[in-house]
Amino acid sequence: MTNTFLPSEAIQHPRPIERLVVGTATSDGAGVKLTRVVAQSLQRRLDPFLMLDAFGSQNPDDYIAGFPDHPHRGFETITYMLAGRMRHRDSAGHEGLLENGGVQWMTAGRGVIHSEIPQQEKGVMEGFQLWLNLPARDKMSAPWYRDFTAAELPGFVTEAGVAVTVIAGASHGVTGAVTRATTAPLYLDLHLPAGSRFTQTLPVGHNAFVYVYRGAVEIAGRSVSTQHLAILANDEQADGVVIEATSDAKVLLIAGQPLNEPIAQYGPFVMNTEQEIYQALNDFREGRLVT
Ligand code: CO
Repeated sequence: MTNTFLPSEAIQHPRPIERLVVGTATSDGAGVKLTRVVAQSLQRRLDPFLMLDAFGSQNPDDYIAGFPDHPHRGFETITYMLAGRMRHRDSAGHEGLLENGGVQWMTAGRGVIHSEIPQQEKGVMEGFQLWLNLPARDKMSAPWYRDFTAAELPGFVTEAGVAVTVIAGASHGVTGAVTRATTAPLYLDLHLPAGSRFTQTLPVGHNAFVYVYRGAVEIAGRSVSTQHLAILANDEQADGVVIEATSDAKVLLIAGQPLNEPIAQYGPFVMNTEQEIYQALNDFREGRLVT
């Protein structure tokens, strides 16, 4: 986080909200309770994003078993840990401890088997996992992995007092921790004081959404309350988004360039065709996923 106070990006035609979505309570891994904010039914609309899970609980029974060894192929997972500690280990020999505002970016590529296990027996565990698709030509690439502590994540404060963490992409001239050429993901965590506004330019055609995890905001005159996802319309003349905080608020702003490729998903495998899914299942069963 730097101490520069950056002026707003000028937006002439802000995007309106196309649709508000409420996540679904579910559980995954070894019984971790979470809210699936972006589910499979939104994959086409929010291409290149495949999933967004929000987890948050003060009850260890809701998270303590974590996510024991499981495979992935064909996409990237971005885990953003707001509070709590999670130990990560994978088949490529990577290991890391994710905590307190840290991000883990994992490119599964042709295959990873990993575990994500909480390292605490009490207290709050809160965070997000976003799944970002890989273009067809990169689905069988070598796995890649990086951990970023909160201090390593680029950030800035706007003139209006909005604190911005740039996990991916670029905002107000500040480049994020990770950039990707094909999907050009933008992933911002915004902490907005009540009454402040934040503007962000967005390329036409990029799919974009806002998830409010504290407080409430207004976007183009429509209010978005806590735990609501606002899908932003892809108007051809729109050049960005304007977010106004109606209370102290914390939101994720996520956008990316759609791949417009077929999506074939079976659980933790996301490929382009059913045949590639069978291949992934066979490779996993026969121990060839990570070789
Ligand atoms: Co995983």
